[in-house]
Order: sequence, then structure tokens, then C-alpha cells
Amino acid sequence: MTALNELIKTADWKSEKHVPVIECRDEVKADELFTVRVTLGKEIAHPNTTEHHIRWIQLYFLPDGAKAPCQIGSFEFTAHGESAEGPNKGSLYTHHEAATSVKTGKSGILLALAYCNIHGLWQSSKTVKVV
Ligand code: FE2
Repeated sequence: MTALNELIKTADWKSEKHVPVIECRDEVKADELFTVRVTLGKEIAHPNTTEHHIRWIQLYFLPDGAKAPCQIGSFEFTAHGESAEGPNKGSLYTHHEAATSVKTGKSGILLALAYCNIHGLWQSSKTVKVV
């Protein structure tokens, strides 16, 4: 049996265009909203075409001491130049970028999972400290 987690790849986002980049403050106040932005291809752009694009990004939070992550959000990118005239003939392209606000009473780890329709699943994480 192949487990899904064996298929999730990661790398340094500066050298691999598929790795999600999580941007937010390193330290936050307890129960105060802060913005989290997730994108990818920040250093090396990822294609956004009908044939090759990022389909979705999911964001999770694992509070310190927890055994399972909580899902913060799921962001779907559904326009990639599709058109009745053919692939990439449309004028609309959803960029693979998501932003949301969240608050937490505990420090923990943000985890992002991105899906490329050609190259599969990619993850990254970022520690957030409640001070
Ligand atoms: Fe890709």
C-alpha cells in the first residue's frame, strides 16, 4: 500500500517553484487576529495555464501539544484560461495566492499543502509563537 504522505514533496521554496510560501508574523499576541498569506513560485514562477497550474492550497495549524492539525482554510483556484475557443484562449486566470486572518491562544505550526495538476502535492510549514 502506498500512503498519501509518502507522495507529499517538500524542498526549499527558493529553489523549487512548487513549495508553498507561508507569510505571517513570527510572533503574535494570544487571541489577536493576524494575517496569513500563502502563495508559491515567489522566487521561481510556477506556470498558470490550462494544462499546468496550481489547483488548490490548503492551510492547517498544529497547536503545540496537539496530535492532529486543524484546517484553517481551503482555497481553490479554478480559472486557468479555459475557453470554448480552446485551452489558454480565455482571458481569466486565478493566481495561486490565498490570504486569511486567524487567531490562536497557543503557539504552533502553520502547515500549507499545495496541489499542482502535473507535479502533485507539496508542503511547507512555519512556526508561529504566541508571546
Ligand atoms: Fe507544476
